[in-house]
Amino acid sequence: MGNPLFATKSITTLMHEAGDTGEHALKRALGPVNLMTLGIGAIIGAGIFVLTGSAASLYAGPAIMLSYVLAGVGCVFAGLCYAEFASLIPIAGSAYTYGYATLGEIVAWIIGWDLILEYAFGAATVGSGWSSTLIAFLQDYGINLPPQICDVPGAKWVFLDGRWIPLNTLKMASVNLANLPMATAKFNLIAFLAIIAVTIILIIGIKESANFNTAIVFVKLAAVFTFIAVASAYLMKNPQIAHDNWRVFLPPNTGSFGSFGWSGVLRGAGVVFFAYIGFDAVSTAAQEAKNPQKDMPIGILGSLTICTILYIVVCGLLTATVHYSRLNIGAPVSLAIRETGVKWGSYVVNAGALAGLSTVMLVMLLGQSRVFYSMANDGLLWKWAGEIHPRFRTPWKSTAIVGVLVAFVAALVPIGDLGQLVSIGTLLAFVIVCAGVWILRVRRPDLNRPFRTPLVPLVPILGMLISLGLMSGLKALTWIRLVVWLVIGMVIYFTYGVKHSKVRNRV
Ligand code: ALA
Repeated sequence: MGNPLFATKSITTLMHEAGDTGEHALKRALGPVNLMTLGIGAIIGAGIFVLTGSAASLYAGPAIMLSYVLAGVGCVFAGLCYAEFASLIPIAGSAYTYGYATLGEIVAWIIGWDLILEYAFGAATVGSGWSSTLIAFLQDYGINLPPQICDVPGAKWVFLDGRWIPLNTLKMASVNLANLPMATAKFNLIAFLAIIAVTIILIIGIKESANFNTAIVFVKLAAVFTFIAVASAYLMKNPQIAHDNWRVFLPPNTGSFGSFGWSGVLRGAGVVFFAYIGFDAVSTAAQEAKNPQKDMPIGILGSLTICTILYIVVCGLLTATVHYSRLNIGAPVSLAIRETGVKWGSYVVNAGALAGLSTVMLVMLLGQSRVFYSMANDGLLWKWAGEIHPRFRTPWKSTAIVGVLVAFVAALVPIGDLGQLVSIGTLLAFVIVCAGVWILRVRRPDLNRPFRTPLVPLVPILGMLISLGLMSGLKALTWIRLVVWLVIGMVIYFTYGVKHSKVRNRV
């Protein structure tokens, strides 16, 4: 055997693990509909409801639709690769497990560690977005929560026009702050409690979590369809408005890279990529699927296809209803529906956004605990992280610890650029999964693949290239943070993982 750092976990061992049953195994409770709603639960969230507005306003104008197409195509290529792996290796660890089977232990560790950026930091980012959405939602009913419990420590809030709002969202020039009441936040209790609530559901059971998710996914889909119906009817009655707002579909570049023009479409794609994150989380539930060979591809590709179509329709209608220059705000979809004059519509959309974000947190935390579970089973993390609750049949210790840590991150750390860190972490996992599919086709062409990625190696190569292209559009600081994060991971691997790795000890 070669260098133990690159030891791979055999497919036979993985198949054996996938067949484990009994009270110490995860429960196989999810069918194709659950898996698809799990995907939609993770995908539709802050990206479409929040980021689309600022991306259209700052980078691409109505051509944000093209940004969505570009990011969506990249995700479809990666999704096809995930589908092959998830049906071939139906184990909880997703990209981490695929890396272990193909590229070796150290690469698997890197992906496992990297997935924390996607799932744990993703949940924290969305938790913070959830608290902002709830606060705005309650304010629409005249309820103001104390700002001290609504933001990270030190954040300043100001009382203006009957509402507490974060100082950094205010357009300074137009307001004289001297006369306004101010407050300093201490702890984002709202985000903290949201994450804890979701964690409790996850501990209670996979079936319960999936049912909760499915119910809420219908609420958020109802909100999306309401927007589509109301905005389409409005534009059919007022075609002139659509015509005016779309007169310039691709605003010319302003002279700097990423500010409109084609480079703006590219930067927009890097930003709205966040909206697609989550379809891969379906693969972390492979060990809880009743019939993973058949249903994992349906869950992954079905949810991705539905969301891609909805996203393109929604952002087209959004920019046709409201001129893109006015969309750089926290709740663009709700503004657009108010603009149509259908007042109740904005309540439906706000409720949908709130519901939408809660399932994103749920599925992200589900993914994170399943990755830790798999890593612990392989001896690369502490054994307790892999323990299954005898009654709930969930990895309750890793779920609880991940939940509490993520709740603190959401409550204490300013989110700001964390969203980009989530995107770069996810894209890195995509690159490795695409490479893995290709490598395994070369090394083990004999394996029975219930789902085959079409046109290998073309699709994996395109998946890698688009992911790398989107990564290259992200800020240098995001890259530095990624490298620092991976170095910390290496330290843990060399001080703990190498000594306890089960695969190495068999080598
Ligand atoms: N795709 C998820 C969202 O947009 C992460 O919130």
